[in-house]
Order: sequence, then structure tokens, then C-alpha cells
Amino acid sequence: MERVKEEIERLRYLLEEHNHRYYVLSDPSISDQEYDALMHRLEELEAQHPELITPHSPTQRVGSDRTEGFATITHRYPMLSLSNTYSYDEVKDFYERVCREIGRDVEVVAELKYDGLSISLVYEDGVLSRAVTRGDGRLGDDVTANVRTIRSIPLRLQGEGYPRELEVRGEILLPWVEFERINQSRIAEDEPPFANPRNAASGTLKQLDPKVVAARKLDAYLYHVPGEQPELPHTHYERLACCRRWGLKVSHATHLCHSLEDILAFLDHWDAARSHEPVATDGVVLKVNSIAEQEELGYTAKSPRWAIAYKFKAEQVQTELLSVDYQVGRTGTITPVANLAPVAISGTIVRRASLHNADFIASLDLHLGDTVAVEKGGEIIPKIVSVVPSLRSVSAPRVGFPSVCPACGTALERIAGEAAYFCPARSSCPEQQRGRVEHFCSRKAADIRIGPETIDLLFEHGLLSDIGGLYALEEEQLLGLPGFQRRSASNLVRSIEESRERSYSSILFGLGIRFVGETTAKTLARAYPSIDELSAASQEDLCAVPEIGPVIAGSVVDFFAQQSNRSLIETLRGAGVQLSREVTEQSDSGAESVLSGLSIVISGVFALHTRDEYKALIERLGGKISSAISSKTDYVLAGEKMGPAKLAKAESLGVRILDEAAFLALIEQGTDDKHKH
Ligand code: IVH
Repeated sequence: MERVKEEIERLRYLLEEHNHRYYVLSDPSISDQEYDALMHRLEELEAQHPELITPHSPTQRVGSDRTEGFATITHRYPMLSLSNTYSYDEVKDFYERVCREIGRDVEVVAELKYDGLSISLVYEDGVLSRAVTRGDGRLGDDVTANVRTIRSIPLRLQGEGYPRELEVRGEILLPWVEFERINQSRIAEDEPPFANPRNAASGTLKQLDPKVVAARKLDAYLYHVPGEQPELPHTHYERLACCRRWGLKVSHATHLCHSLEDILAFLDHWDAARSHEPVATDGVVLKVNSIAEQEELGYTAKSPRWAIAYKFKAEQVQTELLSVDYQVGRTGTITPVANLAPVAISGTIVRRASLHNADFIASLDLHLGDTVAVEKGGEIIPKIVSVVPSLRSVSAPRVGFPSVCPACGTALERIAGEAAYFCPARSSCPEQQRGRVEHFCSRKAADIRIGPETIDLLFEHGLLSDIGGLYALEEEQLLGLPGFQRRSASNLVRSIEESRERSYSSILFGLGIRFVGETTAKTLARAYPSIDELSAASQEDLCAVPEIGPVIAGSVVDFFAQQSNRSLIETLRGAGVQLSREVTEQSDSGAESVLSGLSIVISGVFALHTRDEYKALIERLGGKISSAISSKTDYVLAGEKMGPAKLAKAESLGVRILDEAAFLALIEQGTDDKHKH
């Protein structure tokens, strides 16, 4: 019994955590299938031990996607979820159950399950009057202004015969092409790409500015008319036909099934055919057709008993392995990448897949020309999941791993306990130097406006061989290169010049010290006001800095121990690049120290400044940004969309919540009562 209790507790904890990641952070770390498996196990244990069910168990509620900044609307009929199945056997169980309960063979409508976010639309006298998100199923967010920008949602119904008040429900989606376009531009802007179109659609619909929403071309499918509504037809299929006639977008992938065979044929067909759909789909929804039969079958607390979702397995396609590239990263790590015969998966063309490391290649027993199964799950990067050895030609060579660096010929090494091989020729390996220059120039580092192709060009023409070389580039040299005009040459030189004004911590980040990301660079810059002090620190000294552990400390010491890095720093110093904190970066000088030593969490969106601007401001004033609210948090800077879970947590811990205006007033005032006490 104790073991059961423990497992239940563990499952509840995990589910809550994943809920939070999904709904509040929009950053899920497990697949829907894994989440469902955890939930399923918890439901199973609670069914066996009903005495252990508590009102707080994740099984007792449906997830919420409520966002601050939108008006709250109570749904007329609760927006329920569907129970999921993953096998044809479970589909058969569902079909047999509903037929048994109704007492004869029932008709079932099969529809594609669209993977976006659900929406409820209300039309009054044929005019769109309200669009509300699912929220927690009972209360949702009023996103009418945003939904009005979606071209496939009519603002006015067509034809006649619609009821005075019509509620229809459906899914808002971001088409694959739009998803790709938005992610491309996010990557170009150094912003993290969305993991999948669902997150992108949800992030878009929660924008407080409808203009932003309009610029991203969302789409929508309608699939459900809730309620008994006596004036409407008495079957789901006919109701969908009405919706279509009234100008609402109803999926063409909708089929009236009369038997289990019909249903399974639909599943078979769409499992393959869905890859041609312009939007993401993740399964099929089966619904009992007759509204009277639906009412007879009824509902559980969370889902209708007359419907079920069958989830597709992650889409896999077979293609040919053409060749393998061994990429040399800026830290020297060698990553094997498969070049594949181009193939469409989930709406995108896949040409490459990571092979991770030598062990992964060996475990697949990969040969050149192999037919491989490639899978694209919720994530963007496709992976090779298996090979089909029976299709291998006898002469196919096994994919090996080079023993020397493909860029510089140095013998590769492997650190005990690590899977990756690396090239130890740190400063003389041109690929590593190229990668370092690219990283140094990135937006959050030196912010030099130069693309990877131009960096390649400069390396090829011998004008650049390391980061320091950037500061020796002259306009006249660039003018001799293909594609360079007077204007582009002077722009690049100016951008390099401007990088001299970048903060010490940005430059420190740009140096590309292993394990030193943007945040760690800031921590180090705070603890050591100049690079000279940092380079003199021992591993022990560094470990004494909060948040710096032995791995980072070791890496920093190792970096400064190398002669090539020491001379790079001298070159940067000679070029006038900032290698120490400026006055405004000091955290302990007069008015600049308003937030000194305070831990601040930023949440939500802001009207007056961007999040990044607030981040920079807080850090300049000596504050520390942390991502999660804890008892150590001094303030939460709360924007408009701060999630309800965060709000509740801050309140329960007694953490002070400041809105934008209060925060700016605090800074202006130049003091803070926490410091007075
Ligand atoms: S019907 C009461 N039909 O799946 C039944 N839902 O996992 C209401 N979904 O919240 C839902 N495609 O967001 C229905 N053809 C479809 C669907 C669909 C996608 C979503 C919907 C729902 C979720 C349940």
C-alpha cells in the first residue's frame, strides 16, 4: 500500500510539473503520448484505490490555458476533452461498447483530429459575436479581437436557416508553411523557434495585439455544435453539413461510418494521407452520429462517452541514406549528420537528420545507401529510428567514424565517459575558428551583422582566421570580394566598430567558453569586474561564486590557460573591445544599485519596454533575474499575460508583485524599502 501511495504521489507531482510546462510556460518537455501514459497510470491506480483520490489530483481537472490580459467568459456548455486511444483494439472496444449500450449498430462519424487549440465561436443573428478559448473547460479567455483576424472564420454566416444563436467549436491552427516562415524569421532574429505549430498557434492567439495575430496567417476548422438545439438537424453529420453551408470551414476529412471496418479503413487511409494536409493532425476523432444517442451515452466528468480520439503514432517515413557529414562544432565536438534523399514528413521536406555520435551510428549498424525510417515527433529535428537491413545491398560500406578531424586532420580524441569525439586542435582547426567567429558575432554576443556565408567567404579568401581578425578588417579588402559593394563593406566595418561598445558580459559570452552561456557570462561578469580578474581566478575561487559549479569553473580555468585564448584577449584589448564592467554596469554605485542583490522574476508581456529591455535594465541596476518564483524571490515584475499559476505561487509565498508602472516608479524613486530595513 505504501508503494502505491508513493507511486501516486510521484505521478501527481510529475503531471503537475508537465501541466505547468505545457500550459504556463508553453514549453513542454515530454510528448502528449508520454503525458497520457502517466495520466493513464494514475487513473488506473486511483480506480483501484478510490480512497486515495483527492480533489487536487490532476485526474480531477482538465488542464487550463487561461492567460491574464483577456476577459473571462463562462462557457455555456463545458468544453470537454476526449479520452485517447492508441490501438485499433481500443477503437474496437469503444465501438462495441457504444453499440452494446445503445442496443444496435450505431453510426459513427470519423474526423481528422487537428492539433491546434480549441475555440468556441458564438454567432448571434449570423454575426460573429464572441470567440473564447477552452481555458479550464469552464472558464475561457475572450479572444474575439484576435479571432476576427482569421480569414477562414466568417464574420457573418452565409445562407439562411441558422439559429438566432449558434455556438460552434473547432480548432485554430497555424499551417505548416506559416510555421516554417515564422520560425525562419525567429531564428534569423536569434529568438528560439516554436517547437511545433500548436505552440506557435497558441502563442499567436494569446498576443494582446491583434495586428501581430493578423500578420501570422492562422487557419481554423470547425467540428462540433454543442447542445441539443432542437431546431438543428438531429445528427452530427448533418449539423456539419449545415455549418458548411453557412460558410464555416469544415474538414473534407469527415466520413460517416456504418461499421467497425469503415472506421478502421478511415484510420488506415488518413494515417498515411494526413502527411499531405496543410496543417498538423495527430489522430482521428470518432463520434456517435445521432445526437439522441449521444445524450443517452452521456458524459464522464472530463469527456463525452460518445466520442473517442485515436492518436496516430509519430509519423515515420522511409528514405535513403545518401551520405554522412561530420561537422566540427566551435568547441571541437564532431557531430555526424545524415544526408537523406529528400522526403516529406508532417508537411515539411526533410533532407538531414542528426546521427548524434559514433555510438548511435554503431547501434543502428548503419551502412551507406541504407533504407532508414525517419520520424518526426513533436520536435522539429527529425531522427533516424531504424534501418531496414533486408533492403541493404551486399556491397554497401558500413558507416564508420573518422579517426582524424575532417577540417584539419588532427587525430580525434574522446573524453572518458562522453559519447562525442572532438578535435583537440582548438586554435589551429579552421572549422572551430569559423564556428567561434560565428558565435562571437551573434546577436547576444558582439552583435556584428554578418551572416555565415560571409564568414565562409572571408575564411576562404584568407582575410579571417579567428575572432581577433575581425578587428583588422578594412573596407578596401572587402571590396575585392565577390558580392561586396561599397555600402555592404562599410556596413560590415561599421558593425564591427560598434561591437567595441558591447558590454563586457556580452563579449565574455561571445568568447564561447564551454558551458558559459548568456546567463553564466553575466554571473561571471558580476563576480569578476574585469577579464583580468576572471582569468586570474582559480577553480576554487570560481566555485565559490553562486551558481558556478566545478564543471563550469574547470572550463573557465582551462580556457584562460590556453596561450591562444590569452593572445586573443590581448588582440581584443588592443582593438578597444570592452573587457571590464563600465560604470553603468557596476552594481554598487549610487543610483545604479537600486536593485542590488535582489532576485527578480519577469513574467508576462509589457507595454512600455520589451522583456529583454527589462532584463538588461534590472541587471544594470544590480538585480538578478531568475526564471522560477521561490521564497528567495524579492519581486515579480508582472506583465499583462502573467500565468495564473505563477500569480498564485507568488501570492502564496508573499512575494511582492509589481506591474510595469510600479516597477518603473520603484527605479525612479532610486531606493527600495527592502534596502532601508
Ligand atoms: S470534438 C466534446 N473533433 O481534441 C467533443 N475535437 O483531445 C469535443 N480536436 O479539445 C471535441 N480535432 O481541441 C473534436 N475533429 C475534432 C477534433 C477535436 C481536434 C481537439 C479539441 C479537443 C481535443 C481533445
